[in-house]
Amino acid sequence: MKLLQSITIMSLGAALLLATPTNHEEKAIETGNKASASLLKTLGQNMKAHIEKGGVMDALNFCTTQAYPLTQKVNSELPKGVEVKRVSLKSRNPANQATEDEKEVLQSFDELTQKNEKLPQYILKDFNSNSYKYYTPLIIDKPVCLKCHGDISNNTQLTKEINETYPQDKAIGYKMNDVRGAIVVTIQHQ
Ligand code: HEC
Repeated sequence: MKLLQSITIMSLGAALLLATPTNHEEKAIETGNKASASLLKTLGQNMKAHIEKGGVMDALNFCTTQAYPLTQKVNSELPKGVEVKRVSLKSRNPANQATEDEKEVLQSFDELTQKNEKLPQYILKDFNSNSYKYYTPLIIDKPVCLKCHGDISNNTQLTKEINETYPQDKAIGYKMNDVRGAIVVTIQHQ
């Protein structure tokens, strides 16, 4: 099983991580850890506050109007040449749709989950001659996620508002521990 996971990861071109990372790679991993944690913390704290204060509809309004601008705000506070975003194979906001390389990584996360194998904490890829890309899985790890990404058919008001704002929404039908997407950090070589 362990070997299988290594093969999957290696097929992603991240074999370098199985060897000792170079100084540059170590720095990129550290930057990726920090940037992704910062985005997760900002969105998570705000979401929690809105759920507690005004319930799911209030939290939905927060996500709809603030998740994207807040992501841009987190970006504006990152070092030059570093960018963070959330992506998914089944996006709600079309702006969060995964690109080809991101799809490949997300599919490999899905495959590992289907085989009941542990996901890597992150994957680092030498993306092109001037940047690294860092990908960390985003899991449906709290029951609250299901209120807006699970089976929402019995909440007609929520369904209506989601459909109005996101007519192409694909981000429903998830179950606990599914891979919802990834946080992706692009780090330009210094
Ligand atoms: C109150 C409703 C609500 C809850 C609860 C919620 N989300 Fe979302 N989620 C949304 C909305 C709305 C968007 C679209 C935000 C935007 O426009 O960027 C979204 C977007 C996302 C995205 C970006 C990709 C995409 O589809 O656009 C990810 C990843 C995500 N949610 C994961 C989670 C996880 C994990 C949880 C649980 C910790 C969670 N969500 C809880 C409403 C919710």
